[in-house]
Amino acid sequence: MTEHKIIGSLSQKELVKLYSKYISKPKAEFFKSLGLGAIQGKREGIYIHMLEGIRKNTPPMQLIDCRTSGGVFNLGHGYPKIIEALKRGIEAGLDIGDHHLLSEQRALLAKNLAELMPGGITNTQFCVGGGEAIDLAIKLSRSTTKRKKILSAKTGYHGVTGVALGAGNARFKDAFMWNLPDYQQVTFGDIEEFEKVIDEETACVILETIPATGGILIPEEGYFTRIRELCDELGVIMIADEVQTGLGRTGELWGIYGGLYPHEKIVPDIIVLAKGMSSSVYPIATCSYKSFIGEVFEQDPFIHISTTGGSELGCYVTRTMLDIISAPEFLEHVRKISKEFEKGLLEFKNNPLLQDIIVDVRGRGLMWGMEFPNHRYGVGMTLRMIENGIFADYCGNKEDTIKLMPPLILNSEDVSNIMHRLEKALLSLPKPNKEEK
Ligand SMILES: Cc1ncc(COP(=O)(O)O)c(C=O)c1O
Repeated sequence: MTEHKIIGSLSQKELVKLYSKYISKPKAEFFKSLGLGAIQGKREGIYIHMLEGIRKNTPPMQLIDCRTSGGVFNLGHGYPKIIEALKRGIEAGLDIGDHHLLSEQRALLAKNLAELMPGGITNTQFCVGGGEAIDLAIKLSRSTTKRKKILSAKTGYHGVTGVALGAGNARFKDAFMWNLPDYQQVTFGDIEEFEKVIDEETACVILETIPATGGILIPEEGYFTRIRELCDELGVIMIADEVQTGLGRTGELWGIYGGLYPHEKIVPDIIVLAKGMSSSVYPIATCSYKSFIGEVFEQDPFIHISTTGGSELGCYVTRTMLDIISAPEFLEHVRKISKEFEKGLLEFKNNPLLQDIIVDVRGRGLMWGMEFPNHRYGVGMTLRMIENGIFADYCGNKEDTIKLMPPLILNSEDVSNIMHRLEKALLSLPKPNKEEK
């Protein structure tokens, strides 16, 4: 049997050709138009080694991964304990498993999650990706409340599957004529607007704790407390989309439970996790909920099934990941390194040379947004960062803001290195003209 070369089997030119023919010409053309050599080669730790030069006739670079695909690579790339667990799982004979049978691995992972989640969130269902898990969360809120209305944020993002898509931003819906009835959207952070819209017909409120695609928005302290109160008063299910903010990203295990404000520990009714749950190697997503929400499964335990959701191999790897990130010293490390990261970013904000360029810097833990005068800066800064060896990008629903979400395993030297590269990128940006200020 021929052994195929796994990494580096195609040149950029050949890859663009294949992409254009068999996947998507516009996507291939997008990178071509930016003049970017964008093939990811070997990855290790916080680095992605590019196979070719970022620009023509330049040597291949190592980019520091400050995107982490929204937290997929919380432990960086190729974390040894994760790779060992994956190998051990395969060697022990684990595979996806038959989802109709009872599964040892799913049961143990569900127990593990119940022990780590805020009080009362005891049950878990497994899915392949975040969108599917959000779909389930919304479906469960309807079956529990017997109501239809779904309340979410206008610039939120919860995935592209049908039910989740309805709760997200227009950009991802309009081309598919996806303005579903019974979905209502408000401005994230505006509690007065929220109070006017939520009522006794609302089945659920679904919000990201820190909207990532929406621009790393930090609500005022008390915002989620008031939402919790309103949900309790009106019998509405509160869903926290912790796909990006969960699993230690904020320096706490859960953004909604002390990660946003230390004294604001909100217990939602449902928590959805994905991305980082994969431990970077095996896709897995979960919808965890309080037991009163699972009544529908009493009528039919097979009413929501997912063939590859919660693969046994994935569950085993995820348990290893949870052991790593829930260790007190790991979270302590995230908090310590976050302070250094925050300090570096705030120094840029206070740098007189960058006063006209940086409008705002905001975030929590290792999840930060930097806002510029307009979307051209968001795109421009993305390119400048890549040229200076940082892989990060602008927020899809707020293009004037870039988001920085490095792996949680950074050390102090990595932070200095990132700040040095960011500084070079920032100082290379043009000054805004009069209209842009
Ligand atoms: C906050 C949030 N929720 C849900 C999703 C959907 O997850 P997936 O892409 O795994 O379907 C995403 C994906 O980017 C996300 O950022």
